[in-house]
Amino acid sequence: MKKLLYPMFAIAIAFSTIIVSCSKDNEQDIVDNNPPPGGGGNNCDTANMQYTRDVLPIIQGNCYSCHGNGNVSGGVSLGNYTGVKTQADNGNLLHVINHDAGYPAMPQGGSKLSDCNINKIRSWINHGALNN
Ligand code: HEC
Repeated sequence: MKKLLYPMFAIAIAFSTIIVSCSKDNEQDIVDNNPPPGGGGNNCDTANMQYTRDVLPIIQGNCYSCHGNGNVSGGVSLGNYTGVKTQADNGNLLHVINHDAGYPAMPQGGSKLSDCNINKIRSWINHGALNN
């Protein structure tokens, strides 16, 4: 019996970890990915935004649970640059994170991105949504 208990315990832990991490993903990541810029204050540097350095971490942290890693909620994939670029170019990306009327507010069921993160994505889009 003792021999069986440990593996069963391990499996139970593994499953609950998966479930907890999935359900907590959004909440946790939104917090992690919205640190106060510059350790506080209201300054938000949106100059020279780069896809890999600035935009991708925001998308990964807040959108991948439904639109990345093979997830395509609403038929939308943000799992690679091409997918993000498509939504940037058709305007949906900015509309959904701005919570504009007529668009499903994203991240769905989570809190709105910080103004700083929205401004970073907007700036990146305004400069051509480059794969940089
Ligand atoms: C909890 C799951 C979930 C998360 C997290 C999430 N989405 Fe979505 N997203 C959906 C679903 C479901 C739909 C389809 C909703 C609909 O059509 O009403 C959708 C639709 C979209 C669309 C298409 C909107 C349209 O009008 O066609 C875009 C763009 C989008 N999401 C971007 C994002 C972005 C950017 C993030 C992160 C900031 C994000 N989503 C986070 C579930 C999610």
